[in-house]
Amino acid sequence: MEEGELLYRMARACTGRGSIVEIGSFKGKSTIWLAKGSLAGAGTTVVAIDPHTGSAEHRQGDQPVWTYDEFLANLRRAGVEQVVTPIVATSAEAVERFDQPVELLFIDGDHRYEMVRQDFNLWFPRVLEGGYLLMHDTIRWEGPRRVARECVYRSRSFRDVGFVHSITFGQKVGKNTPADRRRNRYLLLLHIVYDRLSTVRASPALKRVAKAIFARLQ
Ligand SMILES: C[S@@+](CC[C@H](N)C(=O)[O-])C[C@H]1O[C@@H](n2cnc3c(N)ncnc32)[C@H](O)[C@@H]1O
Repeated sequence: MEEGELLYRMARACTGRGSIVEIGSFKGKSTIWLAKGSLAGAGTTVVAIDPHTGSAEHRQGDQPVWTYDEFLANLRRAGVEQVVTPIVATSAEAVERFDQPVELLFIDGDHRYEMVRQDFNLWFPRVLEGGYLLMHDTIRWEGPRRVARECVYRSRSFRDVGFVHSITFGQKVGKNTPADRRRNRYLLLLHIVYDRLSTVRASPALKRVAKAIFARLQ
């Protein structure tokens, strides 16, 4: 819920000088949050990239996966299809035929380290200065977590980094300042502690309190 609200707010803040690009749409849950945010703001196009044949965790045995029909039906039901441009392809295929700037990039595709790193390397150069990167599953998932730490928290190209549960976000800058870097390091430390705590068994109420405390500390 908090993650969806973050996507909504970030999409609503987009001005339309670049697209919103989502890598990994599955059945449209995050796409709908982004699209609803966009419609509440400048109506920026949400480009939703997914081959719709699933990731390793969705493919059970030899059963083929095809999520596109359900994805489209969910967009229609949510009344957001007019603002979404689906691209049925992998992110590497899509980047070849995509020549527009990106104002908000949301990475939630293949979670293997090499693949997340590839998504970042291929798409981050398309993000405008002042635009935002968001990455899902940077808590407890080795691939996205490692890429977020290497490419966001420790990078010279981000300011205002932070996280809402498993989503890490940051604003792209030409070169961050020493003060930005000190803050990013502090956020990295918080992210490491939050990640460790997330493996501890706790009641939903305690988890809510922990989330609120970490939000206050950012
Ligand atoms: C974790 S799911 C995405 C969940 C979605 N964002 C949501 O909120 O429901 C990962 C998706 O990434 C897609 N995917 C896998 N490899 C991909 C690639 N190379 N490029 C783009 N999408 C990919 C899969 O088909 C799958 O639908």
